[in-house]
Amino acid sequence: MPDELLHLPVIHSILSRQKDAPGALLPILHAIQNAIGFIPDDAVPDIAHALNLSLAEVRGVISFYHDFRTTPPARHTLRLCRAESCQSRGSEALAAQLREQLALDDHGTSADGAISLRPVYCLGACACSPALELDGQVHARLTPERLRALVNGCLEDAAC
Ligand code: FES
Repeated sequence: MPDELLHLPVIHSILSRQKDAPGALLPILHAIQNAIGFIPDDAVPDIAHALNLSLAEVRGVISFYHDFRTTPPARHTLRLCRAESCQSRGSEALAAQLREQLALDDHGTSADGAISLRPVYCLGACACSPALELDGQVHARLTPERLRALVNGCLEDAAC
């Protein structure tokens, strides 16, 4: 059975539970992403039909919010803090290092599905800036060398 068909019962269950709530689109999109890891494009017609919206309206909301993914998540997600305290301690240079090392933009996912980059605006670790979150774990007092080692660990892990 194609992967997209495996998701349909989950998506239909979410739609039937939440479609009548006021402002249902965003909660439905979050619920789908939480349940299956991303919002498949194949789900857009069902979402649009359930909410009486156009395909363009649903796709517009999905593309407006960077946290929504339309492809399966990478094995590792690295969220580099770009807020003020981290900026003042070098996070922009670290972001440039990430872009160069991985040949990705700030919201990119590597072609092999090893790692996704996402900016974040404060992880609550300002006293230990600059900081990032890798797969839910915060790493602070980053240096270029520590960042490179963390990324290399993700890439090696993905190669196994
Ligand atoms: S500004 Fe980066 S952790 Fe707060």
